[in-house]
Amino acid sequence: MAEIEEQKWTDVSVPQTTTTVYQALYNRRMAWKFEDREVPRDAVERMLATSVWAPNHKHTQPWRFFVSTKDSAHRQKIADFAEKGIIARNAEDTTMAMRQRQWTLDQPLMIFAYSVPADREDITQENYAAVVCALHNVNLAGVAEGLAVTWETGGIAKLPGLTEAVGGDPEWALVAMATVGYPDEESPATRTPVSAFVTWAD
Ligand SMILES: Cc1cc2nc3c(=O)[nH]c(=O)nc-3n(C[C@H](O)[C@H](O)[C@H](O)COP(=O)(O)O)c2cc1C
Repeated sequence: MAEIEEQKWTDVSVPQTTTTVYQALYNRRMAWKFEDREVPRDAVERMLATSVWAPNHKHTQPWRFFVSTKDSAHRQKIADFAEKGIIARNAEDTTMAMRQRQWTLDQPLMIFAYSVPADREDITQENYAAVVCALHNVNLAGVAEGLAVTWETGGIAKLPGLTEAVGGDPEWALVAMATVGYPDEESPATRTPVSAFVTWAD
């Protein structure tokens, strides 16, 4: 990886937004239908910039991201991979293969988020947790940008060989295959209030 100078938090140019932290936390939603609208690169750059400010024990910097823009050669490669991968799993599944191929091509922008393992299991686990935090930063920043970020570990994310097709190291763990786009649906959201899960040990 190229040497990049360390940045202090005081050096960061914080994007101005009227979205409060609490609004982002409560308004963040997954979406599966997106407007047919280009996702601006600068917005994704602002969102991704927040990722490395996630908590990270021993600053192992385990996050690796691949950004796959729509209509790119990279996306075409992932779509080819998806089609072939599903056929390899089940040669009769041509309809599903074509559907996943088209789905892959249709996603407005995709981020493949990986965690680099360590030579110790406990650190590998901490690294994974740090990448989850990092990706959640990206999700929350997305709210301020009017963008939804999906989180997918199923579908083509489960196909063996995806990481190589994406361009990553097969040792890395896929944390999420995420679509970023302007949501074109209201996703229903309900939750059990936290009081069901909290014990205040006063
Ligand atoms: C680790 C992780 C993996 C997920 N994988 C999938 C997935 O494969 N497919 C899917 O539809 N949603 C997936 N989701 C998204 C959840 O289904 C979604 O967050 C949940 O339905 C709540 O909706 P909300 O995020 O809009 O509040 C995943 C979320 C997490 C945190």
